[in-house]
Amino acid sequence: MSGKKTILVAGGAGYIGSHLNRAAHERGYRTVVYDNLVCGHKSAVQWGDFLLGDLADAGQLRLAFRHFRPDAVMHFAAHACVGESVADPEKYYLNNMAATLNLLCAMREADCRNFIFSSTCATYGIPRQIPIAEEHPQAPVNPYGRSKLMVETALADYAAAYGLRYVNLRYFNAAGADVLARTGEDHNPETHLIPLVLDAAAGRRPRVSIFGADYDTPDGTCVRDYIHVDDLARAHLLALEYLFGGGESGSFNLGNGRGYSVKQVIDCARAVTGREITVIEGPRRAGDPPVLVGGTELAERVLGWRPDFPRLEDIIGTAWAWHKKRFC
Ligand code: UFG
Repeated sequence: MSGKKTILVAGGAGYIGSHLNRAAHERGYRTVVYDNLVCGHKSAVQWGDFLLGDLADAGQLRLAFRHFRPDAVMHFAAHACVGESVADPEKYYLNNMAATLNLLCAMREADCRNFIFSSTCATYGIPRQIPIAEEHPQAPVNPYGRSKLMVETALADYAAAYGLRYVNLRYFNAAGADVLARTGEDHNPETHLIPLVLDAAAGRRPRVSIFGADYDTPDGTCVRDYIHVDDLARAHLLALEYLFGGGESGSFNLGNGRGYSVKQVIDCARAVTGREITVIEGPRRAGDPPVLVGGTELAERVLGWRPDFPRLEDIIGTAWAWHKKRFC
């Protein structure tokens, strides 16, 4: 069992971090959320301690480690928009890479050795085969993916030199919300498909644009692997317990292992919400691979993780309950 170990949750006020924070609390961990609230929301931190702080502030990080003495760190604090990373790569390298080095440095100084890293399927680049397994070559095609791969590389070096123990969790498309609608996705501006589709269902946007209907996929639209945010959160705890149990550092994909097209997502949202959703077909968005689906056998075999919410209806259903609570 977990006991009362302490986890420092960097970015715990954000979408995925806030769900982990709740799950960790329910599992008996003490959590300390460290977040600058640039993208996150204080209202999402409903459990554990909260420290307003920036990973760029090495001094404050050091103080946080001295004060809370965490047994482990989970690192969610990152910018995560592919298009933006192409337009403004410095923002991504400074925040996702340089600030993460401050975090690793503070960990090393405090002799905190367990690290769970929010990595991404974007580190693989254009897939050579589907489903994508962990040993697939990592050749990211945008600065976002490269910033995450740089951290993965640094972690391997820290492990070899300083005895850090880490797990890279490579997410596919995080989606859905807490089943009690206490927390959910809340980005500003919103760029992700499911919340945009639900905005259209709620009448908050006139329509949804499909970014390309001429891909070489069954219905011409991009296929993605949507994974419920609570399944992601649970995987973090399993990964941590794996490290605490002496497991080797490594990388795991977190996805559903099945893909849905943009059109399938929109049709499912129509069925779940019972609302009209107006759609227009627009041009492709730069940098979108046609199909991204993860192979998750490794996480299943080594971590004992399987999604509890594999059905797209349930993923969109929880997102819709969260959406309605706020906007309808
Ligand atoms: N899409 C539309 N219309 C929209 C928004 C999205 O058609 O208004 C399409 C996209 O083109 C894509 C799919 O819906 O095919 C999903 O798009 P999202 O923006 O929701 O998610 P991404 O697949 O672009 O991004 C996710 C993660 C990123 C990660 C990326 C890896 O959110 O952090 O996968 O490619 F980097």
